[in-house]
Amino acid sequence: MGKPMPANGPIVCVVGARPNYMKMAPLLRAFRSHAELPPAMLVHTGQHYDPMMNERLFQDLGLPRPDLNLGVGSGTHAQQTAEVMRRFEPVLDEQRPSCVIVVGDVNSTLACSLVAVKKGVPVAHVEAGLRSFDRAMPEEINRVLTDQVADLLYTTERSAQDNLAREGIPRERIHFVGNVMIDSLLSHKSRAVAPVDTLRAVERAHWASEAFGVVTLHRPSNVDELRPLSESLEILRAVSEKLPLVCTLHPRTMARIDTFGLGGTLRSARLALLPPQGYLEMLGLMAGATLVLTDSGGMQEETTALSVPCLTMRENTERPITIEQGTNSLVGRDRRLTLELVDEILATGGKRGRTPELWDGKAAERIAIHLAGWLAERASTAHA
Ligand code: UD1
Repeated sequence: MGKPMPANGPIVCVVGARPNYMKMAPLLRAFRSHAELPPAMLVHTGQHYDPMMNERLFQDLGLPRPDLNLGVGSGTHAQQTAEVMRRFEPVLDEQRPSCVIVVGDVNSTLACSLVAVKKGVPVAHVEAGLRSFDRAMPEEINRVLTDQVADLLYTTERSAQDNLAREGIPRERIHFVGNVMIDSLLSHKSRAVAPVDTLRAVERAHWASEAFGVVTLHRPSNVDELRPLSESLEILRAVSEKLPLVCTLHPRTMARIDTFGLGGTLRSARLALLPPQGYLEMLGLMAGATLVLTDSGGMQEETTALSVPCLTMRENTERPITIEQGTNSLVGRDRRLTLELVDEILATGGKRGRTPELWDGKAAERIAIHLAGWLAERASTAHA
């Protein structure tokens, strides 16, 4: 256990996996535009490493090359989390950071928070307090534990505050700042790639002028076992009879489809299979879609911000505001409900929703301002 380290080094910003990048990009920009803040250093754990899960998104988001890549790669949860911790510790010894910034709920988020807090380095968690109340979900464990050890908890929606209060987190650590992922969306929307250009690559350019749905699927609960995966693919096939579907599939999902020999279910002229896309392609596809069918966390929020109906193939969501105010509906793997809602969206346009409070493109700036004040106060009490 550490005695607090001198807090005058850089702000160490951690990313590990795809959904972290769109959250960290605006933060890094905001930190670097505030001269009163220590320099920001970008550390990539290497949890995601495929070029399409990684370099491409860095380019699209204008993220600089990481100052350091820990190269951990894939593994079981224990292996991956332990390897991130083992490789992150010497970074803190060397850099003596003022604080560590973690975002979201991936294994790298928890691993780096644990290492930092035990060394007495303050941790700020961006996107704190979201809860699915489903502990079978690895991300839920990462969220609960990261929030327990973080010094600063920046939240995206007001429900997060109640979740954190219930878990005994002191009120003064929690700051409602809005949604940094929506900062990225708003600042890149005008540069989104037109769907016609993305669809041309799979000879479906004509869908762009008609109507299409967009699908992503990668949650272990939907894709890791034969039965849920085949049920999910069956649902996609049935929906595609009503609306052509563009499916951009995570390498994890592609591997499982191969292992279980389920590729046949998706062989249809009305289902286009694409590899993971760049950020600007995905933004264009979502914005142009009639609906989105997904088990992603982030896309529930992005569709709400874009006012595009979203059917979430999960039993629960840690982002309730997307249902209460946004365009999201939970469908799990309920085929009948999914088809009913697809019919409704095709007939009426579906939920249009409204933009949640503080999803205004300025969340990263609010965090930078708050962090600067907090670090200054911390430094002055340390010297007192
Ligand atoms: C991780 C996050 C999840 C997030 C998702 C977004 C955790 C617990 N999960 O899940 O919250 O929604 O990222 O994409 O942190 N793989 C590759 N190339 C890569 C990365 C992964 O082929 O660049 C394959 C490997 O077979 C690997 C599997 O995907 O074993 C799973 O990768 P992992 O990082 O464990 O979790 P994700 O499913 O990507």
